[in-house]
Amino acid sequence: MNKPTLLIAPSLLTADFLELGKAVRMINRSEADRFHLDIMDGRFVPNISFGMPVVARIKTLASKPLEVHLMIEEPERYAEAFRKAGADCLIVHYEACIHLHRNLQQIHSLGMKAGVAINPHTPVALLSDIISQADLVTIMSVNPGFGAQQFISHTLEKIGQVSRLIRDTGASVQIEVDGGIDFKNAASVINAGAQVLVTGNTVFSSKDPVAAIRRLRALRN
Ligand code: DX5
Ligand code: ZN
Repeated sequence: MNKPTLLIAPSLLTADFLELGKAVRMINRSEADRFHLDIMDGRFVPNISFGMPVVARIKTLASKPLEVHLMIEEPERYAEAFRKAGADCLIVHYEACIHLHRNLQQIHSLGMKAGVAINPHTPVALLSDIISQADLVTIMSVNPGFGAQQFISHTLEKIGQVSRLIRDTGASVQIEVDGGIDFKNAASVINAGAQVLVTGNTVFSSKDPVAAIRRLRALRN
């Protein structure tokens, strides 16, 4: 049976912000499947990254879809603004949403794919009544807020739990893992059941980011 494909979503958080256009062009010509844009409000996470104006500029250059990871409180306030800026998928945090079901409905009504992210401390079981509304589950393998952190190994068990939850509910959801992925742990992340790898530092700290992306994708074939 041929193995399912593996998608790579490079995060721009650790790119050189003085050379964002160069980073976008690199991802365009690489084998990456989509952009992962990390939005931080300094409240939900202890960092502030960038907002809609930067997303809108990236959109003018990007030749691949933009998935926007909202590490912000009350993300429903900005769903429409990020749609207008060019987001194709919005990932909201389980922990930041009081009415998560309604938030996913809002994202879908705006014509975007909807992802739910869970932090390292959040049990997978909490997704059981919402997973069928999502297109993507993003399992945080670092505490959100920064790039270039260490992978939290407990994530491997959570990937298996999400796989089983998808099997038991029949939900058609992609499993994405976000944070601390490198050439040492990527194979176990994939073997545990991840279909989308978000990676920033492994790509942008490499002398040849295009080759780094190719090397990650090749781990599936
Ligand atoms: C962390 C972000 C991640 C991070 C991934 O809060 O959500 O997307 O930028 O970057 P690396 O691969 O450097 O951990
Ligand atoms: Zn992210």
